[in-house]
Amino acid sequence: MAETLEFPTGHVRLGSNAGQPLTRRDGMLKVTGAATYAADNRPAGLLHAVYAVSAIARGRVTFLDVAAAKAHPGVVEVITPANRPPLARNPDEKAHGFSWRIEALQNDGVRYAGQPIAVVVAETLEAANEGARLLAPRYEVEPARIGHDRGEVFDPPVVGVGAEPNLTKGDAEVGHRAAAHHVDVDIETPLHYHNALEPHAIVAEWHGDRLTLDVPNQAIAIARSDFAGFFGVPAENVELRSPFIGGGFGSKAILNGPQVLCILAARMTNRPVKLVLRRDQMFGPVGHRGGTRQRLSLGVDEGGHLTVIEHHAQSTTSSFDDFLEPAANASHNLYASPAILTRHTGVRIDTGTPGPMRAPGEASGSAALECAMDEAAEAAGLDPLEFRMRNYAETDPATGRPFSSKALRQCYAEGAKQFGWAGRPLAPRQMRDEAGHLVGWGVGSSLFPNPMFQAEARAVLRADGTGLVEISAVEMGQGALTALAQIAADGLGIDVDKLEFRAGSSELPDGGIAGGSGHTATAGNAIFAAGSDAMGRLADIATQDPASPLFGAGNAGVVARGGRLHRADDESRSEPYTAILDRAGLDHVEGHGSGARNPADAEDYAMFSHGVVFAEVKVDPELYQVRVSRLVGAFAAGRIINPRLAKSQLTGGMIWGLGFALHEEGVHDPRTGRPMNADFAGYHVPVNADAPSVEAFLVEEDDRHVNALGIKGVGEIGITGSVGAIANAVWHATGVRVHRFPIHIEALL
Ligand code: MOS
Repeated sequence: MAETLEFPTGHVRLGSNAGQPLTRRDGMLKVTGAATYAADNRPAGLLHAVYAVSAIARGRVTFLDVAAAKAHPGVVEVITPANRPPLARNPDEKAHGFSWRIEALQNDGVRYAGQPIAVVVAETLEAANEGARLLAPRYEVEPARIGHDRGEVFDPPVVGVGAEPNLTKGDAEVGHRAAAHHVDVDIETPLHYHNALEPHAIVAEWHGDRLTLDVPNQAIAIARSDFAGFFGVPAENVELRSPFIGGGFGSKAILNGPQVLCILAARMTNRPVKLVLRRDQMFGPVGHRGGTRQRLSLGVDEGGHLTVIEHHAQSTTSSFDDFLEPAANASHNLYASPAILTRHTGVRIDTGTPGPMRAPGEASGSAALECAMDEAAEAAGLDPLEFRMRNYAETDPATGRPFSSKALRQCYAEGAKQFGWAGRPLAPRQMRDEAGHLVGWGVGSSLFPNPMFQAEARAVLRADGTGLVEISAVEMGQGALTALAQIAADGLGIDVDKLEFRAGSSELPDGGIAGGSGHTATAGNAIFAAGSDAMGRLADIATQDPASPLFGAGNAGVVARGGRLHRADDESRSEPYTAILDRAGLDHVEGHGSGARNPADAEDYAMFSHGVVFAEVKVDPELYQVRVSRLVGAFAAGRIINPRLAKSQLTGGMIWGLGFALHEEGVHDPRTGRPMNADFAGYHVPVNADAPSVEAFLVEEDDRHVNALGIKGVGEIGITGSVGAIANAVWHATGVRVHRFPIHIEALL
């Protein structure tokens, strides 16, 4: 069913391919192992690099047995701060708002456990590992600062990446005085590590002053120019290839020290070099989610309306950089309240620097907010869903602006119906299953902003009627190669099977950042505009050609679909693309487009995806083991390009929320500062058995302002309602409010 969508030139329609629940175009490549990930590359003459990691969290390296490592057969080079050649950019300088201070052997200092302290390059991976072991470092040790109480607390200069600043709306004192019920909740969330299935990996090769990199990256153009900056070459000299990424979650959006060191090793040895992080090395120099300590203070009046939301979030960061989990922002845009006060502080501890990790800020912030909302509903004697509806924000609470679209009310209704929420007892410990488990039901609202980045795309219609679309978009498991190809095919008015889609390389037009749940919106609008531009050219040719049935139709009176141009006023008069190009003697027409939000809409509207998650948990009445037996989510996220992939993203997010609620926790030994669970045996993520029933429903939403195609985002929102929903269900089952995540058995006893 094609749906007409007015788009710049009026030539193309979205809806022949977009909207279809296609399976992944790259599925066969992935399941047969034909998809090439960075570490799969083996250029001739390849060397292997392994870095030695610091065993202490703070101090100085006083000795490395470089001679022993060098004496090992197979070892080619040992890089330490003593012989490391200079870089064109100081790794302790931040080049722009999206750059981090990194560790690239700039000195003998140690800032956290797991920091690279030397690199061994060898003919084989085994020799490199053995060489790194032989370095047997000695240290001057200073006490590690781990945890909120041991580090220095500070007011941050910035919070997150481009996040909103703290909010002061209304008068919190007045709000508290107007309240009949007060709820103060202190929540703690631990450090989380991204732990994508594909560990960070890089293959670097120099050809004179040209550099080729196989490296998974979510922000290809930025990374290319940053890598170039470190090595003093123009960005055009760097070719960055990232065709497939085995999970990014934000970690692969940021440059890190091991990458720069691998490129340096390639330059020093004049050979291609590969560096792949071990799983335990993922707990250090490649980012994580900072731990938070949050205080929520809510006031509720007699009518069950919020009078004030105060949200203070303190997040851990490193001793040498400033990224903070912008957790309190979660209270800005979801619930109506005459007074909203948010504040962030940081605490400096001896870990690597945190960075964006799936729903940065919203994940931990909404966990705290949704728990507090549940307690406020209990204080007011209201059903928690009814309480949320009573505090529904008709306009953006932070700015007062209208929402570009908001179908959260429909999400509440649809989700409650699908879950079967009606009849839930208000009091806890009221429900049991046939096996005698305590059963609890909880709810949490979901929200995630809809950022857009800049992107460019090129679209080509070939003489044989097939299409080619090029954009350095990023496939990191989310399905970009499928969803974006659907938009691209509609942009050219052809079937998706006739489309070649090239992505994942710096040699293609800049696809912007695959992050912030904004990739489909950003890249998709650029792609569609490029197709529309190409069709505009084709229409010019046809309408000026007396031999065409479209002659004289005028540029705006033509529609491209099904491989043919049609007169808009009489669609039975049409001509195939191939005939138009053939007569014109052209082997292709080409179009270019960019994706960006209309600045007036950006100014006038608040833009968010919304949703709700309902959770059912079963708790063993003796052992207090918690099992999530059901998760049901309902989400509204504008136009859905591929419902199958969107649901996959949403359920993936909900399972991530389950991991946040019950499993994930980076534990550091407070005595040494070392990560104590740097593997999948100790760092728990949910497996299939932990998530027997997870369902996401999509609620229709027609958004005319968020961007030309009406696309919002589905990548991260699934996490945001799920954490609170599960914690609230645990209370409903047990009567215990747990304020520290993940929820451990001992907290319930
Ligand atoms: Mo994400 S944390 O925007 O990859």
